[in-house]
Amino acid sequence: MYKDQLMRTLLFNPGPTNVSDLVRSQLQSGDVCHRETEFFEMVLRVNTNLVRVLNGEGTHSAVLLTASGTGANESIISSIRGKALVLNNGKYSDRLCGIVERYGIPLVRLSFDPLARMDLELVEKTIALDEEITHILFVHHETTTGALAPLYEIGDLAKQYNKLTVVDTISSLGGHPIDLKKDNITFCSVSGGKCLESFPGVSFVVGKTDEIMRLKGKSRSFYLDLYAHWEKEQRGETPFTPAVQLVFAADAALRQLLNEGYSERVERYKALAARMRDGLTRMGFRVLLLSEDVQSNILTSVAMPNGMDYWLVHDELKARGITIYSGPEVLAQRQFRIATLGSITLEDVDWFLSNLSEVARVAGLVLHPIAVEQETKQQRL
Ligand SMILES: Cc1ncc(COP(=O)(O)O)c(C=O)c1O
Repeated sequence: MYKDQLMRTLLFNPGPTNVSDLVRSQLQSGDVCHRETEFFEMVLRVNTNLVRVLNGEGTHSAVLLTASGTGANESIISSIRGKALVLNNGKYSDRLCGIVERYGIPLVRLSFDPLARMDLELVEKTIALDEEITHILFVHHETTTGALAPLYEIGDLAKQYNKLTVVDTISSLGGHPIDLKKDNITFCSVSGGKCLESFPGVSFVVGKTDEIMRLKGKSRSFYLDLYAHWEKEQRGETPFTPAVQLVFAADAALRQLLNEGYSERVERYKALAARMRDGLTRMGFRVLLLSEDVQSNILTSVAMPNGMDYWLVHDELKARGITIYSGPEVLAQRQFRIATLGSITLEDVDWFLSNLSEVARVAGLVLHPIAVEQETKQQRL
């Protein structure tokens, strides 16, 4: 046990995440009216910094929304005039389909094996055969499986066939490399409460500025009208009352991300996941990894040992200040998942592992720990 650990709740669920003391302290920034200059300046700074983080300077603009991540996706989709191709490999791309359908936008749903690399030939064939398709929508990091979509390659296909891309980068921003220009991203969605290490409730759309400007009068949504938000935010204003304190927090979180460096954050997350996977494997859990080009840096799926009562393990960890989350679709496959994102350290991962080890004993799990010597021998064979 190390200092302060008993005071903290550690989140090993895939968002919301632990935030730094600095980000949390922003909630006490004082009472501020969003119609004042200092707030306008902050909105401008937040949007500028987000575009900087993603290498979109000169081509892209960020639009801040008071909404969860789904609100950012809905803001983009409700402005689509055309036909949407959704690359469907999991729950969150199901949800993209749901939003497209709700707005009565023509939809082509292309389904893929959720755990395998997307078949790019099939994507190409589909867009080559259907000239009416205007937008390709997909989720960069599917948070239920930890499967990555080939961001660069899809962007490249979109460029070749002159299509627009709409990418849900809600759980990948900060956890995996993203480059708005190189990856040819027309629109993407970002949420405060994931690898940005801020609070949920503020989200963003980042889009090519010229494409956002084409959206004037196009949105079918009043509240989530992307162009209307963008137009006001050019001056730091917001069309409606924003979550003022959460914007302070997002501002600090973005400055922290810039200070840390984007690729350094990705490396930190890789190291956290590696430590977690190594520790789980040594303890005797079976970690379920996907192929290297598809595997997430932040999510680890684990097979439940025979007889494991997930909720007993969950509740025992919770009593020790540790939260894990697995959706019903994950549990139905006798798996659970552990996320390593947010303002956490390798020591936090070790703390998790030592608690899980005790909980496994309490829960009577039959594990087959890998001794270090045995593992080394196996590696040598
Ligand atoms: C990839 C992805 N898309 C969309 C969402 C939905 O975001 P929210 O619950 O913030 O609306 C999530 C949330 O976990 C997500 O992981």
